[in-house]
Amino acid sequence: MNNFNFYSPTYFVFGKDRENETGKYIQRFGGKKVLIHYGSGSVIKSGLLERVKKSLESSGIAFSELGGVVPNPRSGLVYQGIDICKKENIDFILAVGGGSVIDSAKAIALGALYEGDFWEFYNGKRIDKALPVATILTLTAAGSEGSTGSVITHENGMLKRAANSDLIRPVFSILNPQLTCSLPPYQTACGATDMLAHVMERYFTNTKEVEITDRLCEGIMLTIINETPKALANPDDYEARANLMWAGMVAHNDICGVGREQDWSTHNMEHELSGLYDVAHGAGLAVMFPAWMKYVMSHDVNRFAQFAVRIWGCEMDFQNPENTAIQGIKHYEHFLQSIGMPIRFSELGAKAGDIPVLVKTLGLGEGTLGSFVKLTEKDVQKIYELAV
Ligand code: NZQ
Ligand code: ZN
Repeated sequence: MNNFNFYSPTYFVFGKDRENETGKYIQRFGGKKVLIHYGSGSVIKSGLLERVKKSLESSGIAFSELGGVVPNPRSGLVYQGIDICKKENIDFILAVGGGSVIDSAKAIALGALYEGDFWEFYNGKRIDKALPVATILTLTAAGSEGSTGSVITHENGMLKRAANSDLIRPVFSILNPQLTCSLPPYQTACGATDMLAHVMERYFTNTKEVEITDRLCEGIMLTIINETPKALANPDDYEARANLMWAGMVAHNDICGVGREQDWSTHNMEHELSGLYDVAHGAGLAVMFPAWMKYVMSHDVNRFAQFAVRIWGCEMDFQNPENTAIQGIKHYEHFLQSIGMPIRFSELGAKAGDIPVLVKTLGLGEGTLGSFVKLTEKDVQKIYELAV
């Protein structure tokens, strides 16, 4: 196991109706003037936004609001949010929604305390400070409610890029599984695919003897695979929604990734797809992950065979472990199809002819991507081709 630091200070408030306590927690974490940030309408329709505002009012907390975040959140609204924060002396940001809303809130939190362009942080500038962000999660997927990351698409060139820092981990996150019962099946499935991908980016590693994190990863993957069909069959299944909600958090707050090399090449390749075609991140991952697996499998057949045996219940072929490894990837593809995910470029509306554009915007040049196998531009091109 490698050396590591792990600092994950988010305070989680989990369970039914817990959003009614929002005001109390904002007080506890020192917010005086709050910007409530939300998406394109689901929180208005469900009445959640009203309940949250009531909770703030009854705690005597002043607030402004900014709605309109779209999936694959854009820089334009982030600039607007930063302006509001500066003009109105906002000292706390409350994201009410899914990963896109939370990521947009994190970006605003960065820009509000910075004189330059917030986009610099998405080009690698070190993060030194940010306003505190809290979340009320309505979609189990991105893990942004407990993660260090924020992913924003800049409208100039539609570049989708990430910033990372412990300073943008939410100070608290309210997780009420009931709020996810209104998710359409497609969003539920995209979320499950993203959560699985967050674990797999960590699971396929070159670090040896990482039994504890291997087993944590496997437990999370099995939970997602078992619970997702239940939530799809019965959207109001509270227990399935609850298990998925916590799985999404532990899949990405890095508790299952510490002490081991992580890969993340598939996420980077996918961000180019969702940047260019504006597809759901989970759907893009469903297309890219199997392709990446097929391309890199021979690098460590035993790890892929372990994935096949422990996750998909395949029988180990000791004479030819490659057969077992291939079976595992097939099972994974079947699972994705069974929950309604695309697994090929055409199902996403992506075109083979655009592959050179995808490779170019990824901007690897002479560098490499990922760590399980260090991919060159040529490798990346071949993986996109496998996804066609
Ligand atoms: O905007 P509204 O009206 O709220 O509708 C949203 C949106 O259309 C809807 N929705 C959310 N909660 C709902 C609901 N509809 C009905 N009932 C509810 N309870 O769902 C749609 C998708 O929402 P979005 O927030 O875009 O989805 P998700 O949570 O999957 O977030 C995706 C974004 O997160 C990024 C992705 O790249 C993508 O931009 N990621 C962020 C990460 C991070 N910060 O750590 C890591 C991830 O790997 C990922 O890259
Ligand atoms: Zn993801």
